Amino acid sequence: MIILGIESSCDETATSVIEGVGDKVKVLSNIVSSQIEIHKKYGGVVPEIAAREHVLNILPVINEALEKAGIKIPPTPFVKGGFIDGIAVATGPGLVTSLLVGVESAKTLAYAWQIPSIAVNHIEGHIYANFIDREKIQFPALVLTVSGGHTNLVLMKSHGKLQIIGETVDDAAGEAFDKAAQLMKLGYPGGPVVSAWAEKYSNQKNLTPLTPLARGAVKLPRPMMNKPGFNFSFSGLKTALLYELQKDKNWKKRISEYCHEFQQAVVDVLIYKTIKAAEQYKVKTVMLSGGVSANKALRLQLEQAVKDKLNYVSFLMPELKYTTDNAAMIATAGYFKAQRKKFTPWQKLKVDSNLELK
Ligand code: KG4
Ligand code: ZN
Repeated sequence: MIILGIESSCDETATSVIEGVGDKVKVLSNIVSSQIEIHKKYGGVVPEIAAREHVLNILPVINEALEKAGIKIPPTPFVKGGFIDGIAVATGPGLVTSLLVGVESAKTLAYAWQIPSIAVNHIEGHIYANFIDREKIQFPALVLTVSGGHTNLVLMKSHGKLQIIGETVDDAAGEAFDKAAQLMKLGYPGGPVVSAWAEKYSNQKNLTPLTPLARGAVKLPRPMMNKPGFNFSFSGLKTALLYELQKDKNWKKRISEYCHEFQQAVVDVLIYKTIKAAEQYKVKTVMLSGGVSANKALRLQLEQAVKDKLNYVSFLMPELKYTTDNAAMIATAGYFKAQRKKFTPWQKLKVDSNLELK
């Protein structure tokens, strides 16, 4: 089955063509047009600008994804299907005006090409980044989904059976990185830049991502670590960082140390709760997903924790190019929905900026 995926929920206009056979998914093309450079100067995503950029980019990236995948677009509309089997599009959650561009494009193509359409939840898409180029995954699985807008522990009993067992009660993990970077005037997006500074500190101190515990003078809390349940909270951590910076006249000289401790505080809490949940729900697989899953310390330390603490549990994380927003993950989630015949007619494709995972 050949699926075209479309993703426009925030500041990346992304398209992809994948081919699915049974449980195997192969990516034929994966195009991401990022707007980061445009939003950087504002310190975050400006929805109005994001939507306008999506409008400019969407058709070129659709053409490019189809071309790279070697798919010939029919010369005239209203030629009945055949060249692809489905169009998967992220319908939410995200910025409403951004989502609209992807969804309206998908609707138009589904109508013109007479091809079934599939509505995909953006977070479910992140989860399905783990299903690209993989053998059959063993269920039940636990997925730590950490992005700019969400931080969830999701129990996946089988395809399409997703249950949130823990979530952030305030800021998402990626948002916490972004806000920490803002406090230290490091620019946007915060995750990559904070983690680069943290790595500088590790290198100076000869720490490795797997032996991060030689902490310096800066000490931040590990929020919710000792609270029962699987929820997270990161807004207090950001405030704790702010207070530390305010107390320290020389903070600008110690940015790498602050970044290292901040990153480690986030990683410690995420890993602790993930391992506890995996034990309680007796899962066979632990997976990592979302933009923050690009974080090297989190990737290496979670992998090690699963190895050390959970017997006979596999660990999976997406390839780096499928961690932040992309359409291969949307097409993959769409493919598994199509296998279960979960299509949404184009007339019923609808943007929902607060779409819940279920
Ligand atoms: O999944 P994503 O691309 O968009 C959303 O769905 O939100 O995630 C973006 C988030 C941003 O907050 C960004 O700072 C964070 O992922 N991020 C990282 C890293 N790369 C991206 N956070 C920590 N370390 C990274 N290397
Ligand atoms: Zn995302």
